[in-house]
Parts: sequence; C-alpha cells; structure tokens
Amino acid sequence: MDFERVYDRKKDGSLKWNKYNEEVIPLWVADMDFEVAEPIRAAVQRYTDAGIYGYAMPPAALAGTVISWLRSRYGWEIEKEWIVWLPSVLSGLGTAARYVSAAPYGVMTSVPVYRPFLDIGSAEGRRLQAVPLKAEGWTMDFDAMEAALTEDTRVYILCNPHNPTGRMYSRGELEQLADFCLKHDIFILSDEIHADLTLDQHRQHIPVASLSPEVAAQTFSFFSAAKAFNIPALNSAFAVIPDARHREGFDKIRLHTVPNMTLLGGDACRAAFAESGGWLEAALDYLRANHDFLYEEINAIPGLKMNRAEATYLAWIDYSESGIPDFAACLEKYGVGVMEGTVFMGENHIRLNFGTQRHVLEEAVRRIRTAVENRG
Ligand SMILES: Cc1ncc(COP(=O)(O)O)c(C=O)c1O
Repeated sequence: MDFERVYDRKKDGSLKWNKYNEEVIPLWVADMDFEVAEPIRAAVQRYTDAGIYGYAMPPAALAGTVISWLRSRYGWEIEKEWIVWLPSVLSGLGTAARYVSAAPYGVMTSVPVYRPFLDIGSAEGRRLQAVPLKAEGWTMDFDAMEAALTEDTRVYILCNPHNPTGRMYSRGELEQLADFCLKHDIFILSDEIHADLTLDQHRQHIPVASLSPEVAAQTFSFFSAAKAFNIPALNSAFAVIPDARHREGFDKIRLHTVPNMTLLGGDACRAAFAESGGWLEAALDYLRANHDFLYEEINAIPGLKMNRAEATYLAWIDYSESGIPDFAACLEKYGVGVMEGTVFMGENHIRLNFGTQRHVLEEAVRRIRTAVENRG
C-alpha cells in the first residue's frame, strides 16, 4: 500500500490522464491514482488465467459479502433477494428512472449534482426539476422543493454522500426527504456510490432506505465498490430493491437494456468488501491528510473558499471572490485540469479530485495560487 507511488497512467489509456497534454495535472474525473488492493489484483489475475469466458453467475459468496458489508458498515439489514447485480450505478439509475417514470414525469434532484443525474432527469421525455441546495452548508431546501413540485413529480434522485459538495446528509435531512417523498408518492433513487469514502470519522453513512420499511419500499438504492476501492473500470455495482413488484419491473427493463455484471466485476467486488478493508482504511487516512492539506492551502489563497468535505475525494471550491470569470478554463492554462461547477449546475465553483499523490497535489496548489495571484 504505497499511495505515494507514481504510475504512468497515460500509457494505460486512462481517461483522466489522456484528456489534457502532459503540461496539465488532471484532477477532474472521479478515479484515484492509487493501485488497487492486492486481493483485487488477485481476482483480476484469476479471471485472466481462466481462458474461458462464457456466461457466468455472480460469485457464490458475493451476496453474503454484500449483506455483511451493509450490516457492518451502515447497520442496514437486507435480504439476499433484494439485490440486483449491475455493471454500473449509472445503468441502474437509468433503468430505475425508466421503470418508475416513463415520460412525461417530473424528476427532481438537488443541484449542484453529479452531471448524469441532470441528463437522466431530462432524457426520454422526462422533465428535470432541479432545485438548488442552500448555498449555506449545502443542505436541502425543502421549501423550494415543495414549491417546485408538480402533480407529475415522480422521482427524487438522491446523491449521498454528495458529489460534488462532499456532504454526507444528516439523519434529520434524510428523514425529512423521506417524509417529503412518502407524502407526495415520489420514488427515491438513491446513489450511494461514495458511501465508503467517509472522511469525517465522527460520522457514519446512513442509507436512506434503512430509515423505515415504508421508505425502503419506495426506494431504489445503488452501491458499488468502484469509488472507494478504485475499480470503476471493472464494472460491478448492485441495486437494493426491497419491494418485489418494483424489483421485478426494474429487472425486466434491465435484462434487455443493460449487460450483466461480469464474473470479473463480481469477484473484484467480493475481494474488495471481503478482503480489502485494511487497504480502504489506509486509503482513507491518505485521503484525509490530502483533504486537510488542500483545505488549509486553498483557504489561504485570497479569493478562494473550500468547505470541508465530509466524504468523497472531491473538493468543491468557491472562486466567486477571485475576480476570475471561468476558473476551470483559467486553471487549464496554468496546468491544472478541474471541472467547472456549471457542469453540475453550480455557479462560481470548481470540483477538484484530490485522490492523487500528495506531491502532485502540492504542485497543483502552487499553480492554482499563481493563477489567482495573476488574476487569471
Ligand atoms: C455520484 C456518482 N454516481 C455514479 C458514478 C458512476 O458510477 P458507475 O461508473 O458505477 O456508473 C459516479 C462517478 O463519478 C458518481 O460520482
């Protein structure tokens, strides 16, 4: 577990490292520059050694592993039948949106938010209802949500922990969201892909569906080892859908629109949850130190403000007082590749991925400081 080790990711076809030329440090798309845990590497090795790649079942131990993980990490007790295996969280969100809200339903979410939610909300004739979070603390604005509600609002897409602000919603907020959704007969599609990336050690992730059986019956929850264990290219994820009728409806659409999770993905997920807990703890410690470094450094640059991220390896940085209009474009000129907030429907912010080696981050901070000092 050497998180300081540098890899030439450019030559391996990395999306993150091939977007820009070599002058630019890429801190945009959400994967980390860390090698995976040894048990995951072994799972990949077993797969490549097999030599026959026919239709496969999920590894026998996977369901039990997932059930234990949800129990031990979040205190949520689920049944094996509630799980639907998927190749990715996004394909699951898209399938669920199709199932519960075929056009012309309204799809609500709180913005800024992970870009594809906005696309799912407006795809296939659906109507996106994007309600801003309160800028103070990035909490949900329930008054604004009530005001935005229409008779055909059918779905709320939840991102918890939240990309891009790094917030973990509190139990109180989740309860209020659940009350709102139950009252208005709205399904919750809950993307919890960042659940294991808790930076704040005083907090524990709360799956919204764990609040009560009534909430669970109205919720499609999505999880994956992809973010926390840095394996998004291995394509494994799962939905937890306690209501049998909804699970069958979801699965019918999934069958003809989404490929099956591969044996490789399933075994990597099993290896992550069952055998790589030590790696995760070490990675979280490294990320916490990166986060604290960045928090101090960014807030020391006049014109920039960063709030503490409670989870994820994403920093959400306010540049409204820098006097620079399009900060992401400006930073690219100075050799740092980040995402402009408007991608997420968030003004005056950038999102910066700090899941990288410390010295890379230090150099990025130097360049950011110079960009601000030079006023773009
Ligand atoms: C909130 C969120 N959901 C989903 C994804 C993508 O997950 P997957 O590759 O499993 O679709 C990401 C990736 O950044 C994400 O941040």
